[in-house]
Amino acid sequence: MRKPLYAANWKMNKTGAETRMFFEKFLSQVQPSSDADIMIAPPFTSIIDAIDSDESERIIIAAQNMHFEAAGAFTGEISARMLNELGCSAVILGHSERRHVFGENDVMINKKIVTAIDAGLMPLFCVGEKLGQRELGKTQEILETQVSEGLKGIPEKDLAELVIAYEPVWAIGTGRTATPDQAQEAHLYIRSLLSTLYSNDLSNATRILYGGSVKPSNISELMDQPDVDGVLVGGASLEPDSFAAIVIHD
Ligand code: PGA
Repeated sequence: MRKPLYAANWKMNKTGAETRMFFEKFLSQVQPSSDADIMIAPPFTSIIDAIDSDESERIIIAAQNMHFEAAGAFTGEISARMLNELGCSAVILGHSERRHVFGENDVMINKKIVTAIDAGLMPLFCVGEKLGQRELGKTQEILETQVSEGLKGIPEKDLAELVIAYEPVWAIGTGRTATPDQAQEAHLYIRSLLSTLYSNDLSNATRILYGGSVKPSNISELMDQPDVDGVLVGGASLEPDSFAAIVIHD
């Protein structure tokens, strides 16, 4: 059985003080449970506030990005070791905003996944097609390239912690969610890719999250899909009430 994972991607939102306020309210609404994992990815500058606020370590604290090199002349970048030292245990890699706003490509994302695994950080690897690609019937082709290039050269034994997030670009921040059937179809396809590239065991064990305009009103129908193992939430994760409603949905 795959354990559900509810992940929040705060993007460039929340100062340290705002992070502390969020945690106080959020933790008072969500009971500790071993049935599901909760992850929150604050901006780099608020990670320490998130870690300090989560004394009982109920939440997986993640970064939203990371450089693949260990150190060096990379102005504005953050290394895996810096995240390790803060107490971060996961990192979002290949988010569509990193790909399409900041020009990250599959080769860079592949290097980042390798670096994260080496550093013991759980990689939350994002893939997804743009609207034009879906309309041209290219969704599977795009997912195939992103998944196979992103995981290139990584042996199966290193992928025990891998989480994949399917985030159709046209559904991110637009209010336009993929239908549960569209999400299920894409997730099943990603699972079939993992079987072909690796094994049925890895394919069955890997959590695949859906992301793109997830909110309290659509979480249940998405989570009802057999291959949707959790969600990656942007806008609706910024308020403690709405992220708590997503985590504790029926
Ligand atoms: P959204 O963002 O929930 O605001 O659509 C999701 C994401 O970018 O991970």
